[in-house]
Amino acid sequence: MKTPSDLYTEDLTIQFGGHIAVNKVSCRFKPNELTVVVGPNGAGKTTLFNLMSGQLIATSGKVMLGDTDLTRLAPSQRAKQGIGRAFQLTNLFPKLSVLENVRLAVQAQAKVGMRIFTHAKSLKYLEQQAYEYLSQTRLEKVAHLPVSALSHGDQRKLEVALLMAMQPAVFMFDEPTAGMSIDEAPVILELIDQIKQDSSKIILLVEHKMDVVRALADRIIVLHNGELVADGEPEEVIAMPIVREIYLGNAA
Ligand SMILES: Nc1ncnc2c1ncn2[C@@H]1O[C@H](COP(=O)(O)OP(=O)(O)OP(=O)(O)O)[C@@H](O)[C@H]1O
Ligand SMILES: [Mg+2]
Repeated sequence: MKTPSDLYTEDLTIQFGGHIAVNKVSCRFKPNELTVVVGPNGAGKTTLFNLMSGQLIATSGKVMLGDTDLTRLAPSQRAKQGIGRAFQLTNLFPKLSVLENVRLAVQAQAKVGMRIFTHAKSLKYLEQQAYEYLSQTRLEKVAHLPVSALSHGDQRKLEVALLMAMQPAVFMFDEPTAGMSIDEAPVILELIDQIKQDSSKIILLVEHKMDVVRALADRIIVLHNGELVADGEPEEVIAMPIVREIYLGNAA
């Protein structure tokens, strides 16, 4: 197995017309580290994610995964390199069942690894793997429903199941519990915690809820007006005046 690489950005910048949404951000994300990205609304958190996963192409600066320059690659090419961003369910097959969708993701990953396809029992094996992800995400009960019939909370869980099936090196979650009910949100957070147990993974999480940040973060970075204004240990960053301002809601 290849040693996991760091994901890092160098002076990463994107400008929309006259507005610089992400401004010369340089930061490094290491395997076995969960980094929470915080900052007020419009700070550039989602835009930074888009620049790393390829939904947006930088105006200047770089995105690197180890020695591989991702800066100009399309999202699908970055996914092949190991960048995992929660699927948009619009990319799925809405009429196929939840199980079939996860099986297709497992199958795509198996092809990439060139394993198992020589075995006659491969389909059964793929389905068992898919069930495993559904069981981890507590979706067994809806395995045979079409994706289009899922509740919002179950759709979010399915996004995580699909991401797990892809076995990426980097997991990116942008407000994964947004719009979820109070009893559904802990399932997602437990899953993220479970992914964290695999020490080879880089995990990036945008999250507003401070209790979640405290529970999961190994490190916090703070964006403000597109700039990286803090980067460090959770306790140290949470104590910074800028972060307190952000969470008191009066950051300029
Ligand atoms: N495609 C785009 N075209 C023009 N402006 C954009 C585009 N995407 C983002 N922006 C602008 O960039 C800034 C950063 O937006 P972004 O969505 O990254 O913020 P955010 O930190 O994720 O905020 P939130 O907490 O509300 O999700 C905002 O001013 C936004 O209007
Ligand atoms: Mg956002």
